[in-house]
Amino acid sequence: MKLLSKKVKCNAHGQDSSYFLGWQEYEKNPYNEVRNPRGIIQMGLAENQLSFDLLESWLAQNPDAVGFKKNGESILKELALHQDYRGLPAFKNALAEFMEEIRGNKVRLKSENLVLTAGATSANETLMFCLADPGNAFLLPTPYYPGFDRDLKWRTEIQIVPIQCNSSNGFRITGSALEEAYKEAERRNLKVKGVLVTNPSNPLGITLSLHELNLLVNFIEAKGIHLISDEIYSGLVFNSPDFVSVMEVLMNKNYMNTQIWNQIHIVYSLSKDLGIPGFRVGAIYSNDKEVVSAATKMSSFGLVSSQTQYLLSAMLSDKKFTKTYVSENRKRLKHRQEMLIRGLRNAGIRCLESNAGLFCWVDMRHLLSSNTFEAEMEIWKKIIYEVGLNISPGSSCHCAEPGWFRVCFANMSEETLNCAMQRIKVFVNSECKTNVNGSNRNQFWNKNSRRKSLANWVFGQSFHDYKYER
Ligand SMILES: Cc1ncc(COP(=O)(O)O)c(C=O)c1O
Repeated sequence: MKLLSKKVKCNAHGQDSSYFLGWQEYEKNPYNEVRNPRGIIQMGLAENQLSFDLLESWLAQNPDAVGFKKNGESILKELALHQDYRGLPAFKNALAEFMEEIRGNKVRLKSENLVLTAGATSANETLMFCLADPGNAFLLPTPYYPGFDRDLKWRTEIQIVPIQCNSSNGFRITGSALEEAYKEAERRNLKVKGVLVTNPSNPLGITLSLHELNLLVNFIEAKGIHLISDEIYSGLVFNSPDFVSVMEVLMNKNYMNTQIWNQIHIVYSLSKDLGIPGFRVGAIYSNDKEVVSAATKMSSFGLVSSQTQYLLSAMLSDKKFTKTYVSENRKRLKHRQEMLIRGLRNAGIRCLESNAGLFCWVDMRHLLSSNTFEAEMEIWKKIIYEVGLNISPGSSCHCAEPGWFRVCFANMSEETLNCAMQRIKVFVNSECKTNVNGSNRNQFWNKNSRRKSLANWVFGQSFHDYKYER
């Protein structure tokens, strides 16, 4: 370790946050309906597994695209040899049109303003390198995606200053919260280079309102800073209000030839909308030619492979397919979100009203033994080790209020989701009983006999090989 760089030794990566720890615990004991029915159910992973049948059926009908052929002739050599680091023009055109379609064809996107990256992870980091210097700050509304600590800060040495949002107004961004964050950065002697939002929000599962978008545009205009809008969930809006991209707001305001037009940058990826995070396909869209040029050079560190671009250019150019996929996928997501809300409601748990994404923002404040983050961790540990659900605590998303959790619903089968809901219901009942009986929570959870009975309630059978002792 002594011989390694400071970067390797510093822990700004955030790998030790409960968000990643939960994944590690899940991997030690993953749930499987048949092989490990008492294992941990993964509800901390924002994966979209609901529409693979649609992708598979398209692949089956398009053997040329899958077999790297054009009009029956192999183009393997063309794809396997040199790749122009600016990306395949056919893919960039298809991606720009797909992004327009998701935005209700209300915005015109030029393929020359797109920079391809290995997922949104790489897009966000690349933008940090382009827009800010080490020690500069970006303002982010809380709660935010836990991966941002790694993606935005770790290698770039940029600081994140939170824009504190809270439950009193459904975690909406306000003018005063923006100003307060800016002042906080100034107090810390940090130069603010921009604001980064996710729209729709991870972890809230809500789209930004027009009011918030206008606030943001006015704020960055007044301060002369950048706005990054991470729109990775833009194709997953399944309830009204519809998704509005900040680009649409600028167009409606006729800002096309003004300075601010160059200060707004969009991050996108196919990881969520098409459910293919393993393919590593992301993009930056910017109207600023200098940003596009610098980001294109940097993209050499994280290109999208030629065969992936070739395959996806064929898929995304098939407009009939993309239309059906997007609308069917939205229907399936809506159904899942309703299942989760119903299941949690049966257990006496409420969620923030949401209209997008792969998760709900779940309110478990009533289950805390005190209004503290220690109590949040206490309940999180019970849920992961004893109930067997990996959910993400709000503290890992830098939420300012204890007791909120992000719960994913699209990375499992309906049966698994039902099983998770059953477990949570039993858990809440047992918690409530404990409260009614007035016994001390900590005492309760430290007593083996009570753990035994909880494990029995949860799994309806013997607890022997249920690994709650860790
Ligand atoms: C808001 C947000 N941005 C970026 C990412 C990273 O996505 P990718 O897999 O495309 O790198 C995620 C993944 O969960 C995310 O939620």
